[in-house]
Amino acid sequence: MCGIVGFAGSEQAAPILLEGLERLEYRGYDSAGVAVVSPERGLQVRKSKGRLKVLEALTDGGRSLDGCVGIGHTRWATHGEPNDVNSHPHLSQSGRIAVVHNGIIENYLELKEFLTSQGTVFCSDTDTEVVAQLMDYYYLRSGDLMDAVYKTLHRLEGAYALGILCLETPDRFIAARKDAPLLLGYGEGCSFIASDVTALLRHTREVSYMEDGEVAVVSADEIVVYDAMGRRVEKEHRIVDWDVSAAEKGGYEHFMFKEIMEQPEAVRKTISPRIRDGRVVFDELKLGADFIRSLERIFIVACGSSYHVGVVGKYNLERLLRVPVEVALASEFRYADPLVGPGSLVIVISQSGETLDSMAALRLAKSLGATVLSIVNVVGSSIARESDEVLYTWAGPEIAVATTKAYSTQLVLLDMLGLFFAETRGSVSSADYALLLSELQALPARMESVLEDTEKIKYLASRYFNHDSVFYIGRNLDYALGLESSLKLKEISYVHSEAYASGELKHGTISLIEPGTLVVALGTYTPLFDKALSNIVEVQSRGADVLALTTESRAQDLRRTVEHVLTVPDTHPILEPSLGIIPMQLFAYYVALQRGCDIDKPRNLAKSVTVE
Ligand code: AGP
Repeated sequence: MCGIVGFAGSEQAAPILLEGLERLEYRGYDSAGVAVVSPERGLQVRKSKGRLKVLEALTDGGRSLDGCVGIGHTRWATHGEPNDVNSHPHLSQSGRIAVVHNGIIENYLELKEFLTSQGTVFCSDTDTEVVAQLMDYYYLRSGDLMDAVYKTLHRLEGAYALGILCLETPDRFIAARKDAPLLLGYGEGCSFIASDVTALLRHTREVSYMEDGEVAVVSADEIVVYDAMGRRVEKEHRIVDWDVSAAEKGGYEHFMFKEIMEQPEAVRKTISPRIRDGRVVFDELKLGADFIRSLERIFIVACGSSYHVGVVGKYNLERLLRVPVEVALASEFRYADPLVGPGSLVIVISQSGETLDSMAALRLAKSLGATVLSIVNVVGSSIARESDEVLYTWAGPEIAVATTKAYSTQLVLLDMLGLFFAETRGSVSSADYALLLSELQALPARMESVLEDTEKIKYLASRYFNHDSVFYIGRNLDYALGLESSLKLKEISYVHSEAYASGELKHGTISLIEPGTLVVALGTYTPLFDKALSNIVEVQSRGADVLALTTESRAQDLRRTVEHVLTVPDTHPILEPSLGIIPMQLFAYYVALQRGCDIDKPRNLAKSVTVE
């Protein structure tokens, strides 16, 4: 996600801002910028696509800018390609206000239309520019910056952490936050804001955390904080005792654990802007209703965990749409002379948007006349750029090689696409549609409840980390869940494992089950729970150690035969994989931890596989 820094003091701001942005580089970004204000030189904005060194060259290390008050930003694109114009800070039309932003403004299109009707001319594709222009709109009418800030914030829907600089107030800047982190830093004769503490540690360890709705006026000698009603509030100051490495991981030991814990928020950011008035809406989708209704077959093509999303998608989309859904490994699809042609929809799923096999499959599908829709996490990536349609998961940058939050956001986005298509095709009843949408909106909170108790999973991992082969068995969506669960264990703990359709065991593989073999039995797909139970008895009778996963409503049934039962909340069967994957990610994480593996950078693996 984006990184924000701000400084007010007696030294030149730009070099300090650049150093702070360097501390935020680990968060991942595609462009960067700074804005500085001084009575002599006014409001100066410098920004560029690419790495920080481009910005440092552009500003001569910050020396070409003048002013002791400024804001800075590293951008992880969500709306608008990574380029110079879309980079932050965004300057308002009058040149009086500069804004940096972390988060997503969900109603930015509506506000953009209003401002355009009032004569505002936009120069970027971002949601953030709307904030600068709306603030400018109010400021030009009242001349009161705080009034303009509050009126703007009251109209914003979505998440924001903001740094705001104004030409007429060169001795201070403003910060505001709602649903996106923003810290205040208290230095000697200087003050700071930052998205996370890593950007501050060189200057101060005395911080306070802004709360939702708060607005801070930051000057060299003081930071004054107001609540959403404009009432002054006193903030509790804390002393940060983390080192930089711990701070980069939000205090967690590994990026992977941090990203597992970020899943509810990542899912919330991905789904909530696309649910309006009780319906799934994709403002970014140009597919016509006729095309959607005419679909006779859908292909899903991907690699690795993204492929596993496709396997879940096959079950769910076929259930919702009643059309055949073929899911294929991109590395196979591209050499299989696929039965794809005009009128086919090929969905390419890729977190990085750079996976070579998936890109090759995309180009083949397009050459055969298919329409390609991609689900991607990196805005402006190669696969996104070459697709006819792209839906972005707003998971933020994923640092750990083993994907977790990107996988989870892909899963829910594909479910939402299925709902959207089903409504267009009339293939689900309005009651089923409403139920599924309601359960989807409840998903982040349920994910949070699963994450509240990791101790039992940690204990089970301590019992089983020495196994050298693990079987994940399940039926239907539990089989799909097993595929991803097995890959997570393999890729970070180096323990061999296999995912098996439970009903297939008796056709050969069950010969491998012997006393002490660990079998993770997945029973969250409740329509087939009884079958799952019988498969558990089947492997137990051959001496297997069983670790079972099911829903809360079925746990008691399982506990009669299985000693170790993990549970997830009950939800619509289609959405259970989104909950079931969390204990499986945690189990893989804790096993790898016990085995002393390099969890964030597993051997032989890369975050993006851009080779054959
Ligand atoms: C995920 O944990 C793996 N690291 C890997 O399988 C990954 O999912 C695969 O390489 C596809 O990557 P993509 O989603 O960026 O295309």
